[in-house]
Amino acid sequence: MEKQQNYEALQRISRITAHLAPFTSQMEEADLLRGSVCRSKGGSSGFKVAILGAAGGIGQPLSLLMKMNPLVSVLHLYDVVNTPGVTADVSHMNTGAVVRGFLGQQQLESALSGMDLVIIPAGVPRKPGMTRDDLFNINAGIVRTLCEGISKSCPHAIVNLISNPVNSTVPIAAEVFKKMGMYEPKRLLGVTTLDVVRANTFVAEVLGLDPREVNVPVVGGHAGVTILPLLSQVKPPCSFTTEEISYLTERIQNGGTEVVEAKAGAGSATLSMAFAAAKFADACLRGLRGDADVVECSFVASEVTELPFFASKVRLGRMGIEEIFSLGPLSEFERSGLEKAKKELAQSIDKGIRFIRK
Ligand SMILES: NC(=O)c1ccc[n+]([C@@H]2O[C@H](COP(=O)([O-])OP(=O)(O)OC[C@H]3O[C@@H](n4cnc5c(N)ncnc54)[C@H](O)[C@@H]3O)[C@@H](O)[C@H]2O)c1
Repeated sequence: MEKQQNYEALQRISRITAHLAPFTSQMEEADLLRGSVCRSKGGSSGFKVAILGAAGGIGQPLSLLMKMNPLVSVLHLYDVVNTPGVTADVSHMNTGAVVRGFLGQQQLESALSGMDLVIIPAGVPRKPGMTRDDLFNINAGIVRTLCEGISKSCPHAIVNLISNPVNSTVPIAAEVFKKMGMYEPKRLLGVTTLDVVRANTFVAEVLGLDPREVNVPVVGGHAGVTILPLLSQVKPPCSFTTEEISYLTERIQNGGTEVVEAKAGAGSATLSMAFAAAKFADACLRGLRGDADVVECSFVASEVTELPFFASKVRLGRMGIEEIFSLGPLSEFERSGLEKAKKELAQSIDKGIRFIRK
């Protein structure tokens, strides 16, 4: 009896202080991940979610938002810097999810083991003086390392990839998973939700509607002209003048630059991105739970066009992607936008694939 009480007290202490001394051995972790220990007292069962790059501009507010999500029972925060602080901070929120921090590559495996959903905002955003190629090479390398870790520790997890350039990092992730013999295309999703979030906001402004009531499908990819808002398919149904269509399309495609310029050297979109990522992750978790009709746009392996990857509406379910919707009828303006988008997308996809196959 006394022995059992001591054991429980020890377990309690190690759970409470987990964020102060991230796991160093798989044994401790395996013990703590088992059964009821994964749930906070009184909390319901839920999903295990890891955020890789949790101490960054996107990672921190995303950690906060995921800690608030009632579908999350365990939240693992991984980064190569500063996770103990972020974890201690977020862990004080009296919501259900148990939070644990992991620091540095040697703890990647522990951070990933047993996860249902892995969200990746790790990487560097574009900084002044940095070429697109510099950014590509750094982020491509980071995504490769993290995806190798996922293949080893939680090969069946759903992966939400945020690190840019998404048009190339998703093909990179697919190639890494293929190489490791662990590729499940239905579970790899590039996060393009920020484009949809922006489109809904900007369209609502023009129409004088509540942005929460507006739904704009955004297809193609996640950079410049590859971002193709389908303004002919907006819900609720509405019509725009030619000027409104070109103003809205351009503003949605350049939303990232709008934020970079307004921040004037202090970074890129992080808060709206964390909001978008949390919204998308929540949709993935609702799908995993078995909710019906969970539909979001995402950049995924696809047969909607001749390209191997494309963003369009997908239905999410217990297996990840359960259905990929075709584009539907397009306006003349959208058809010409689609051709431009495909041309650029083909190059970005190819660049990602070559990075791993070289
Ligand atoms: N998909 C989108 O819509 C979208 C929108 C905005 C930004 N982004 C991209 O998201 C990424 C992150 O942006 P940010 O503003 O948060 O950058 P940031 O520099 O503020 O944060 C990135 C974090 O990643 C961490 N990191 C670096 N290497 C790592 C590794 N090997 N393992 C784990 N963590 C690592 C860093 O330590 C840092 O904490 C960038 O690539 C950016 O371009 C995507």
